[in-house]
Amino acid sequence: MTLQGKTAVVTGAAQGIGRAIAETLARAGADVVVADIDPGRSQDTVDAVQKAGRRAINGKVNVGDWNDVKRLTDDVLKEWGQIDILVNNAGITRDGLLVKMKEEDWQAVLQVNLNGTFFCTKAVLPSMSKRRYGRIINIASIVGAIGNAGQANYAASKAAVIGLTKSVAREYASRSVTVNAVAPGFIDTAMTQGLSQEVRESLQNQIPLGRLGQVSDVAEAVRFLASDEAGYITGHVLHVNGGMLMA
Ligand code: NAI
Repeated sequence: MTLQGKTAVVTGAAQGIGRAIAETLARAGADVVVADIDPGRSQDTVDAVQKAGRRAINGKVNVGDWNDVKRLTDDVLKEWGQIDILVNNAGITRDGLLVKMKEEDWQAVLQVNLNGTFFCTKAVLPSMSKRRYGRIINIASIVGAIGNAGQANYAASKAAVIGLTKSVAREYASRSVTVNAVAPGFIDTAMTQGLSQEVRESLQNQIPLGRLGQVSDVAEAVRFLASDEAGYITGHVLHVNGGMLMA
């Protein structure tokens, strides 16, 4: 129970990787705010956190809306008094080749993946800074490092998240707030289940460990970076990709 007594906000925690992160942090002892745009679907995660014996808040939020993020953060701080861990996991894709990509698809992905990470980070930092403790973990992606045809918007957003991670890590190191990124490769979730069998097989052939990742592979990396034991690691990008990229 390495996270006993800690409180965590996990964005995009209604399903997929975010849900696994919320449940894993709860099993390690943390209370969890399940922060997602879809509170109906979040309820399953809330139930799982409570089943693990921890407190949970079903926090409806659009991470791409500063006022909404600020409201939820203020509510959580009022109710629980502290936020120790923030996991910026909410993310979307709007794939398409660049010349066919609509401006609205570009903006939508940047608004959630990049601006959302900025807004949530900005909202929690004053209280973490004051307490001289914090763990911020941003979910980036392997495509932020190597690019991907058909995902210019998504890859740009995730590369930007890596730059944001390193900058905030430098700004808040003196306050003992660590800021790291976890960059998953291809993980078996709703986001990748939409790919054709052919694409999935070709992906699998590029992964030395020979399989798509599981949500638990990512969640365990986040749990480590959220722990006190990871206190000397900041500004790092932890690649969880089965060896697909050895950076
Ligand atoms: P998912 O699509 O299964 O879940 C995303 C969650 O974010 C959903 O619950 C959704 O309601 C929520 N969400 C979307 N927009 C939101 C908003 N504006 N405000 C609040 N919540 C919002 O996605 P998945 O696969 O679990 O991915 C999670 C994160 O991991 C994303 O940042 C994604 O880019 C990243 N990632 C995923 C990979 C994969 O292979 N699945 C690979 C690399 C990175």
